[in-house]
Amino acid sequence: MRFLVLCIFGASLFAAGNGKQLPEGPGRATTQRLCGSCHGFGNFVRRRETRDGWNSVIEDMIRRGAKGEEEEWAEVSDYLVAQFSPVRVNVNQADASAIAEALRLKPEQAAAIVKHRTDHGGFKSFEELQKVPGVDTALLESRRAQIDF
Ligand code: HEC
Repeated sequence: MRFLVLCIFGASLFAAGNGKQLPEGPGRATTQRLCGSCHGFGNFVRRRETRDGWNSVIEDMIRRGAKGEEEEWAEVSDYLVAQFSPVRVNVNQADASAIAEALRLKPEQAAAIVKHRTDHGGFKSFEELQKVPGVDTALLESRRAQIDF
């Protein structure tokens, strides 16, 4: 019995620690209701996804047992996209710190991008950007949807 009480106490402490609040916005209440029953919000408020990305997270959660109506999922999708979309950045215009922050690159890599564009003129394509010495091409590929020229 004491063990059970300790477990419940431990679990509620864990839940409180994971109890990140969702930002205000249309669809917040529905998202809290549909997404909050199995885990806290800590595991996804740091994530940045496009509409496609969030829709596949939602599909994944439905496969794991999340329940809701079609219109409710549409509302959740709109909310997640409005609140947690990736920041777009123009690699021909932004300064190194803005590039590093938006794409979550190391400062040296963002600096290499700016140096390359200063030395060789602006980037015309994603492929050209991938050729900058020292950049993590796999990482850039995963952030591709955020990059403007
Ligand atoms: C039926 C239970 C359930 C519901 C409801 C639920 N999830 Fe999950 N979710 C899980 C499980 C199980 C995992 C995997 C274990 C973990 O990471 O906690 C998970 C993991 C996640 C992850 C981490 C996945 C990864 O690959 O890193 C994210 C992000 C997430 N959920 C977002 C959501 C969102 C957004 C909603 C609402 C649309 C939601 N969850 C609703 C059960 C659920």
